[in-house]
Amino acid sequence: IKKIGVFTSGGDSPGMNAAIRAVVRTCAYLKVECVGIYRGYEGMMEGDFKVMDARSVNNIINKGGTILKSARCLPFRTKEGRQIAYDQLKKAGIDAFVVIGGDGSFTGALTFNKEFDFPVIGIPGTIDNDIFGTTYTLGFDTALNTAVECIDKIRDTASSHNRLFFVEVMGRDVGHIALNAGVGAGAEEILIPEENLGLERLLESLKRSKQSGKSSSIVVVAEGDKTGKNVFELKEYVEEHLPIYDVRVSVLGHMQRGGAPSCFDRVLASRMGVKAVEALLEGKTNLMVGIQDNTITLTPISKAIKGHTKIDKELMRVSDIMTT
Ligand code: F6P
Repeated sequence: IKKIGVFTSGGDSPGMNAAIRAVVRTCAYLKVECVGIYRGYEGMMEGDFKVMDARSVNNIINKGGTILKSARCLPFRTKEGRQIAYDQLKKAGIDAFVVIGGDGSFTGALTFNKEFDFPVIGIPGTIDNDIFGTTYTLGFDTALNTAVECIDKIRDTASSHNRLFFVEVMGRDVGHIALNAGVGAGAEEILIPEENLGLERLLESLKRSKQSGKSSSIVVVAEGDKTGKNVFELKEYVEEHLPIYDVRVSVLGHMQRGGAPSCFDRVLASRMGVKAVEALLEGKTNLMVGIQDNTITLTPISKAIKGHTKIDKELMRVSDIMTT
């Protein structure tokens, strides 16, 4: 392998730039050419490439977003689209790539490998932490810190006005952000898709909380929760069934995807970037770099996208005890 392409794809996450930097610098260190591919598979199909040397990634380890931009690309899902992308890569002399993204991006990489026998390695970049084969995805830690900082601020005003707040956090179909940010911010209740305890229990818990002398309450709601009600409907429901509360809603939204990556995410990105390039140069393919028991590991991408991430039951128990 003489020339490695690197790109970011799907929803961005803090730490992607640090991962790009790590891939580029490892290539430079091992004397392999590195090419940045803009806008994920979209830029690949258009041949939107830029040769990257060690100096081209100066001062980006601390930056949120992705300097290579990101996109979700529908045409790449077709055989014709992938053929166009392959022709562009060949024309540029790129003979392997590192994809930094989530499961959609990994699925594309696998199909591409199957069709063109093209070496691919994945780095999990998503705030959702929903990829099997790694305890942490890039950006999860930063998103948690952002969410906790915001909830702390919401608590200030909630407590001044004796209010109940429903705070919606991201996470797509999983509750990792909600559970961790909820425990970290001392939420009274946490609603996650992995465990739907029903609305009755929510009312009971809020009633108990008021009776026990709490003046304000925070309920963290994962965007994918299974109560069947969104945060605004939850507000109406509680107002109707438990009129003792003055209720407000806050949707944290995309601010969770931005900002400078935490030190944890920068270090993780650096370790993953090095491993990704090393794996390609060792002739490996179709693998995702992960971290398990603080060791950098490789998992077949096929498993990473199909396996289920498990919610931390022990943390759920801790959360229950803390809301007493
Ligand atoms: O996968 C990351 C994520 O931020 C999810 O948490 C969220 O559901 C989704 O992306 C939002 O996507 P978009 O930026 O396309 O609105």
